[in-house]
Amino acid sequence: MKKRKILLDCDPGHDDAIAIMLAGRHPGLELMGITVEAGNQTLEKTGRNALNVVQYLDLDVEVALGSSRPLVRELQIAEDIHGESGLDGFEFPDLERDFSDKHAVTFLIDILRQSEEKITIVTTGPMTNVALAMRLEPKIIENIEEVVLMGGSYGYGNVSPAAEFNILVDPEAAHIVFTSGLKVSMMGLDVTRKVLALPSVVKRMEAIGNKASRMFADLMNAFNENQRKVYGFEGGPLHDPVTIAYLVAPDMLTMKHVHCDIDLSHGVSYGRTNCDVFDYLKQEKNAYVATDIDAERFWELIEQGLKRYDDLE
Ligand code: RIB
Ligand code: CA
Repeated sequence: MKKRKILLDCDPGHDDAIAIMLAGRHPGLELMGITVEAGNQTLEKTGRNALNVVQYLDLDVEVALGSSRPLVRELQIAEDIHGESGLDGFEFPDLERDFSDKHAVTFLIDILRQSEEKITIVTTGPMTNVALAMRLEPKIIENIEEVVLMGGSYGYGNVSPAAEFNILVDPEAAHIVFTSGLKVSMMGLDVTRKVLALPSVVKRMEAIGNKASRMFADLMNAFNENQRKVYGFEGGPLHDPVTIAYLVAPDMLTMKHVHCDIDLSHGVSYGRTNCDVFDYLKQEKNAYVATDIDAERFWELIEQGLKRYDDLE
């Protein structure tokens, strides 16, 4: 099967870590690189977390550090959900790997410019690095197949009534991507809240009994404890891996082509993804928005993904 080339831009983050796990060994994907920015925690922590995950899972992929703050806003982190380290709940072995010597923006531009084939950009954090790359070298647009993001919602938000975290951290960056003219596929809270890492799910994955499943269980237990405290959820929405599910099994998601504006008004709805789901304004459609997900198939995908690490010592 021909592998789809992807670049993953993230802010690990518990759910980012699971997205890395799922993408790292999926037979249908070629993970060309990982870029990191500040988001769930400061860049120093999200960067270290990304490197820890790829080292622990023995993934042969470079990690490049990117932006330590959004384009315009001051950095807003999510320590209440991801903890002081940004990846609380699991003890990684001492870090021996190092980062790419390139800044994430240069890393993205170089890989995109040198690739013979188009590459899909997957973002599971604020879109700062990708937006900066598009502005620094607009020619990369012609070598991007699609942008698949975890972010936004056509319903309500999770860090304000109107806005979802990845978009609200850097609304201006999201605006640059959503107005790039590229195919943008948005996995928003509307579907990620349908895949909750309930205790029964954690138990199911822990029973696999390998290194990856132990990491999954420990991370999800910590993630769920904070989700319970903040939202009263029994299990946390496993947001970021939905982007990978969309890539490897697109029929698992139901998508709707809409016009979507990012609210930059600095009012109470700042950072909202305003999706015109009923096409009231008859504007040009610029985004595919996920409206439903087959949750049973999603958890099967996660289970298969974890089992691919059975050989890990
Ligand atoms: O709103 C959820 C998103 O924000 C997820 O990507 C989570 O990791 C945080 O980045
Ligand atoms: Ca994330």
